[in-house]
Amino acid sequence: MAYAAFRSIGAYVPQKILTNEDLSKMVDTSDEWITKRTGIKERHIAAKEEFTSDMGVKAASLAIERSGIALEEIDMLVCATISPDYFCMPSTATIIATKLGIKGVTAFDISAACTGFVYALSVAKAFIESGMKKNVLIIGAEKLSAITDYSDRGTCILFGDGAGAAVISATQNKEEAIIDVHTGADGEYADLLMTPNGGSGSAHDELENEAAGCFMQMKGNETFKVAVRTLTNDVKEILEQNNIKSEDVTHFIPHQANYRIIKAVGDALKMRENQVVLTVAKYGNTSGASIPMAINDLYEAGKLKAGELMLLDAFGGGLTWGSALAPFSPIRDA
Ligand code: ACO
Repeated sequence: MAYAAFRSIGAYVPQKILTNEDLSKMVDTSDEWITKRTGIKERHIAAKEEFTSDMGVKAASLAIERSGIALEEIDMLVCATISPDYFCMPSTATIIATKLGIKGVTAFDISAACTGFVYALSVAKAFIESGMKKNVLIIGAEKLSAITDYSDRGTCILFGDGAGAAVISATQNKEEAIIDVHTGADGEYADLLMTPNGGSGSAHDELENEAAGCFMQMKGNETFKVAVRTLTNDVKEILEQNNIKSEDVTHFIPHQANYRIIKAVGDALKMRENQVVLTVAKYGNTSGASIPMAINDLYEAGKLKAGELMLLDAFGGGLTWGSALAPFSPIRDA
């Protein structure tokens, strides 16, 4: 049987930085409020001509280069995004594949908000274990600034742009294998976080007039409570089901939505401070890109070594949630 191994990581952040100070000139807020309630200090914003696919391509190129796997060997590409280049079609994954020079492979997007990268990982694992694919490129890429309402202080302080990518490939060595991936969803909570307009529920004449059609709206406080509960329960379940204790995890890499959520979940799971990966201060919430961007930070700081166990944990609009247990398994002679 083939197993799926997490081979490499790459990420990209756009140059422009939007600080809390900048935001306090745009809406009624302050650096003090944002820092205290979210832990965020700044976020990166893509240039006007920089699309989600452009960021995805940069992250993916790095992940492929670091994997030791040739571009021609990639046989599937999955992009997790809620801010695609185009509404409906073509998918951002197909655009990324073409920009990378990968032709004729399976390519599609996943819409699972902040849980998108974990969903993409589960798809890669399933395709590889079934024998249908061998080398899957998964990407989380977001230009959230394009769907953020910069007059709404409840959301605009949270979100940023960026991309992360990983190469997942087949192995016969069980020690290298992704151990487990959990994913779930509950549409009962759909109204907590949504882009309410611009879809098939909007009349054609409304669409023509709705400039703000695709902006995100969020019930932040209710989302916060559900997030802490769901993230904690999901991690407890995946650890228990795989007979792994929280102290056996080298790196706990949660979705970077809010420092207070991460702290509450980390404490409930009895994670030590040095296990928890934190990037929320410098990138804000980059939805589907946040986990691979955080893994990349760890990697580039020289803190992610072969064989170390990663625990991923995400939560987002839908509602969706997911967790994963995976050793970092670069190809040794790459
Ligand atoms: N600056 C100053 N005051 C503000 C701001 C701001 N930017 N935003 C809200 N306030 C005010 C509110 O108006 C309210 O004032 P009131 O008491 O006079 O009514 C007060 O601050 C408290 O508001 P809350 O919404 O209760 O603040 P809270 O502590 O919950 O923090 C936040 C808000 C940061 C949004 C938090 O709820 C949060 O992080 N929620 C979860 C976000 C999340 O995880 N989303 C899921 C993933 S995202 C995805 O899937 C794309």
